[in-house]
Amino acid sequence: MKNPSLLILAGDGIGPEVMAEVRRIIDWYGANRAMAFDVFEDLVGGAAYDAHGTPLTDDTMAKAQSVDAVLLGAVGGPKYDDLDFSIKPERGLLRLRKEMDLFSNLRPAQCFDALADFSSLKRDIVAGLDIMIVRELTSGVYFGEPRGIFQEGNERVGINTQRYTTSEIIRVARSAFELARRRDSRVCSMEKANVMESGVLWREEVQKLRDAEYPDIELTHMYADAGAMQLCRWPKQFDVIVTDNLFGDILSDTAAMLTGSLGMLPSASLGAPMASGMPKALYEPVHGSAPDIAGQGKANPIACILSFAMALRYSFDQGEEADRLEQAVERALGNGARTPDLMGEEGGTPLTTSGMGDAILAELTASL
Ligand code: NAI
Ligand code: MG
Repeated sequence: MKNPSLLILAGDGIGPEVMAEVRRIIDWYGANRAMAFDVFEDLVGGAAYDAHGTPLTDDTMAKAQSVDAVLLGAVGGPKYDDLDFSIKPERGLLRLRKEMDLFSNLRPAQCFDALADFSSLKRDIVAGLDIMIVRELTSGVYFGEPRGIFQEGNERVGINTQRYTTSEIIRVARSAFELARRRDSRVCSMEKANVMESGVLWREEVQKLRDAEYPDIELTHMYADAGAMQLCRWPKQFDVIVTDNLFGDILSDTAAMLTGSLGMLPSASLGAPMASGMPKALYEPVHGSAPDIAGQGKANPIACILSFAMALRYSFDQGEEADRLEQAVERALGNGARTPDLMGEEGGTPLTTSGMGDAILAELTASL
């Protein structure tokens, strides 16, 4: 049997720092759980631009298409701010998402008990929170035509078009229903069918798919603005939320902030099934390259580590090992392990990036 393959693109700024901790975790799984990965490493973003004059080479793109999963750190930084748009570091990431056709963006909002007081909401509203937002990532108003800024008589007019086809709606809804089957079997679909035809189509197609293929899933519909209110009022009412690109952008950031620091947030972007039956996939922390703290050992590696846990779950079908890793993170936090971004008023001595890695590895070992 071939080993599962993983392409690591650490990128810029704190990307390589947080990825170094993931590498230690991968090695731990190899040594202690007999899980050997074929790990490839390559450049993306500013690092690739420095080496090759482009934020993603064709070679790296081809490699990304051939592996079971891609794990990305972060791209960008002030050094590249003046580059032409076409060769900016972000273009490397955009090219990966586009050419791998990663239409389903999974953004968990999970509140670790040890950090519940860190939220801007009251403890009982967020403690134990575990929801998943599925955002459509490759269509909708960010891509629809016509678009542009035009002159109309004496006025300038800016135009963007929200456009969804049935197949685009069905494939992302399917990924939400499949996810819900591994969780609490509940999906809430959000759009604005009250004012948008694309929302009417969205609602109809999601409901039809549920009725035809997922009768075991409890499906509800909510207007996205009401959904935003409910997310802040009582987020624990949700299990899986599925929504379009624009609403998903906003709702996933809203939900994420219920739980605390940017340094804690993982994500997965999934595409169509490959020959293996598993989806094309790219995993990355939500945060960027954090140039303000890069190179100082201050970065929280948990977002990147939890992204690897998502890879274990969704690309390598190792749900129990993903649980093991998430529980190790939870226990390390429970024991008081904190990087500077997780320090509250109470003070104390923060851990470095690798100190947090040590704390999580110790808990992994204790789990054996
Ligand atoms: P950012 O996410 O890099 O940083 C925002 C703030 O959060 C900073 O104060 C940073 O120190 C802190 N932070 C972020 N991740 C952290 C971690 N793991 N541990 C502790 N603190 C953390 O966003 P910002 O500053 O807007 O962008 C910086 C650069 O990153 C820019 O070049 C931007 O284009 C790029 N970027 C890249 C993304 C990606 O690769 N997916 C996403 C967002 C921004
Ligand atoms: Mg956003």
